[in-house]
Amino acid sequence: MCGIVGYVGTENAVPYLINGLKKLEYRGYDSSGIIVGKIEGGEPKFYLYKKAGKLSQLVGVLPKELSGSWGIGHTRWATHGMVTDLNAHPFYGNRNKVAAVHNGIIENFQQLRADLQKEGVEFSSETDSEVIPNLVEKHYSGNLLDAVQKALNEVIGTYALAITCVDEPDKIVVAKRGGPLVIGLSDNAYYIASDVNAIVGNTTRVIYLEDGDIVEVTKDGLKFPNVINNDYAKRVEEITINAHETEKCGYETYMEKEINEQPESIERAFAGRIDMENATAKMSGFEDDIFKRTKKICCMSAGTSWYASYEGCLLFEQIARIFAYTEFSSELRYKNPLVGEDDVYLAVSQSGETADTIYAMKEIQEKGGKVFGICNVVSSTIARQSNGGAFIHAGPEIAVASTKAFSNTLIIFYLLALKFARQRGMSKEDGLKFIKQIMQQPRLVKETLMNREKIHAVAKKYCGAKDFLFLGRGLMYPIALEGALKLKEISYIHAEAFAAGEIKHGPIAMVNENAPSVFLVPDDYLREKVISNIKEIKARKGPVIAIGVEGDTELEAIVDDFIAVPKVENPVFYAIPMVAVCQLFAFYCARELGKDVDQPRNLAKSVTVE
Ligand code: F6R
Repeated sequence: MCGIVGYVGTENAVPYLINGLKKLEYRGYDSSGIIVGKIEGGEPKFYLYKKAGKLSQLVGVLPKELSGSWGIGHTRWATHGMVTDLNAHPFYGNRNKVAAVHNGIIENFQQLRADLQKEGVEFSSETDSEVIPNLVEKHYSGNLLDAVQKALNEVIGTYALAITCVDEPDKIVVAKRGGPLVIGLSDNAYYIASDVNAIVGNTTRVIYLEDGDIVEVTKDGLKFPNVINNDYAKRVEEITINAHETEKCGYETYMEKEINEQPESIERAFAGRIDMENATAKMSGFEDDIFKRTKKICCMSAGTSWYASYEGCLLFEQIARIFAYTEFSSELRYKNPLVGEDDVYLAVSQSGETADTIYAMKEIQEKGGKVFGICNVVSSTIARQSNGGAFIHAGPEIAVASTKAFSNTLIIFYLLALKFARQRGMSKEDGLKFIKQIMQQPRLVKETLMNREKIHAVAKKYCGAKDFLFLGRGLMYPIALEGALKLKEISYIHAEAFAAGEIKHGPIAMVNENAPSVFLVPDDYLREKVISNIKEIKARKGPVIAIGVEGDTELEAIVDDFIAVPKVENPVFYAIPMVAVCQLFAFYCARELGKDVDQPRNLAKSVTVE
């Protein structure tokens, strides 16, 4: 959570700070702020602006002529303290000498704050972060880098920090422990950001900081005290992200763009991973023998990635006949898990920065388990700290509500299930049929999305409802969970998902003529059972929307509204087309209700705190 930017260079820092924060707003949009430094009349001066609310609020109060040759900025997702101007970053120390922006949590901040108060320091905010510039000021004796090192020796917790001092113009000291941080290098400037997307377009040369790094950034170069002989050149990487991948490309919102991108993004997930000759998948990030040896698969993840993991586990069991289960990362970490030598652990995360999943992964690794990452962001912590894995190649996902990452993660699960299954008795002929179905997914999703007008009309009809049920059985239960989450996240309509067979055990009490139920009804072995569940709802006057298979006229006749997806040969392949309908349904409901689709209230895209 929270986004950090910084600039030191020969041009005006302000445009980069603001554009960078715009790119990072998905990390938090409770408040934002910048501080820029410039030499005026031979004296270095700071100008600080911060404001509660979205970035546009900050932009609204910035003087047009504001400029500076260096600066830092922040977009906040509140943890400690309300959403107010005073709690927004950057923070000055008491002497207005040092200013800092922080992403993370200072766990011992209360003790540090009390100690500093005893020394006469007064605090203006309720945040944990404000101790940082004050600690740095306490240790400052003419060398910012030195003071930051000393201050951080006293700090327990997680941080990505950018710190500047008015007495040392054109200098920023950054430090990382936990939160992501990257420095972009160009001929005349250095760019600092929490996410490389903020830097794209300014330079292609970057250094991803590692935990424990403290770096002094000036116009003349970088100083890495923990890198022998300051030889940081070998840590410079070339990035290949195209600036247009992070633009809206004619769409009003990122979410709509990302939903509609799925036919192409899905194709990227399996491109280069199909082995036609052996009718299997090529998963080069996994050691080959695990596909034979493994007895059990455990996925760890959160939110949408958890629902994708749940679907993946059902696929592993059904297709490869291997025992698989999924855990919430936040629970796994604290349950003292049993770790089996031949078990495979998958850390599933779009951002690769979800703190709960990082810690769960560490817990398993410390107990001797191997953890493979299934991530979207290539440079992320999970990608770097895992023992292998696969990238989902969804491309940058900017909207807070995850969409294309879910679908791409499922493609990786289909590929893994195929690979496991081919080692456990699936025939070559069935393997080839399975591959054909994977390769048809982009077309199926494209055809599904062409139904957008119908989905929009249904959303318009029902978006005034206060409560929704999402219901499915078997492989459709995780899709129901994901459908309900999408609706809740961006439209704030209360939605709950259940395994459809469970409704008679309690949730059916919620059914009334104003509470619609969305049923997911593939033409699989559970179809008749689901139709019985639909009838139970209809008998109690509950409106029913069915997402079913085209041509299922029997289903269409018994429900109030019917949205079709194209028919597939093997019903395990309905998950992605059906989730695409749920995504569009949630999107149109939220838009009809006038909600901010890309930046829903209280949420942030990367949950980098526990
Ligand atoms: C839902 C959503 C969140 C994330 C969750 C995990 O739309 O975006 O529920 O799925 O915070 O994030 P990652 O996948 O980055 O670990």
